[in-house]
Amino acid sequence: MMRIRKAIFPVAGLGTRFLPATKAIPKEMLPVVDRPLIQHVVDEAREAGIEHFIFVTGRNKSVIEDHFDRQFELEVTLNERGKKAELALLSDALPAAGTASFTRQQSPLGLGHAVWCARELVGREPFALLLPDVLVQHERGCLAQMVDAAQQLEANANIVAVEKVPPERISSYGVVGVGQRTGQLFRITGMVEKPKASEAPSDLAITGRYILQPRIFDLLAHQAAGAGGEIQLTDAMLALARHEPFYGYEFQGRSFDCGSKIGFLAANVAYALARPDMAREARATIEALLGEA
Ligand code: G1P
Repeated sequence: MMRIRKAIFPVAGLGTRFLPATKAIPKEMLPVVDRPLIQHVVDEAREAGIEHFIFVTGRNKSVIEDHFDRQFELEVTLNERGKKAELALLSDALPAAGTASFTRQQSPLGLGHAVWCARELVGREPFALLLPDVLVQHERGCLAQMVDAAQQLEANANIVAVEKVPPERISSYGVVGVGQRTGQLFRITGMVEKPKASEAPSDLAITGRYILQPRIFDLLAHQAAGAGGEIQLTDAMLALARHEPFYGYEFQGRSFDCGSKIGFLAANVAYALARPDMAREARATIEALLGEA
């Protein structure tokens, strides 16, 4: 039985696609409805049983650390005013003391390098990796689905979440080759980071949720730069697949690429429509706007 206690959140990216919004605040703090992106993803990890949250940050990202700490003055004021619901929102978002760790990626060398920067905090055990650009909407979170699926697999198995992507967008992703299938799981036969559509091994793209074995750190330590001149996680995973079982998992749910403006907008609309306290008003407002367009 595979136990996944720790999760890595790479949050060092510059967020240039959201300038000027991300000039002074990290892109991971942009809200989808009323929770920052990073909090949606941390909540998904917590639902999957994660106990230790490891953030790989960079310069100008310290508000992420503040977000996962107490805000003492705010709590005192809310208390004095009897704002119980707001206080509950704050305490729900707070990781237990000592369960959040922060380290810095000192240079922007790529996702593979960011993950490697967490090696001392993870140690030698399997771990989850969640990219906060991607939100997955489903009644059971994507990582929880993967942790469930991992229980039927070898103790040294690795898993990436994948989904179908149309040919015109496939070159933005890591893409997997598909081997033997059992339900939503299949053996991976290859992996390519950002292939041309004509060279992609399938139409299944890696979606930003991973369960990986610690051996990935040994491979990342020597991984040469790949696509875009960056140290690519996908290249190290391909090397890992030569030593350990590697699976793709077609998750249930709808994904939003919040690294793009349209994906971020879509996430806001979809999450508002899914909120019992907002759905009716959100729908009416959107319909009115579409009627005018
Ligand atoms: C990263 C990964 C890629 C994956 C994607 C999912 O790319 O390198 O394999 O498909 O996230 O969002 P990035 O979006 O950082 O370019």
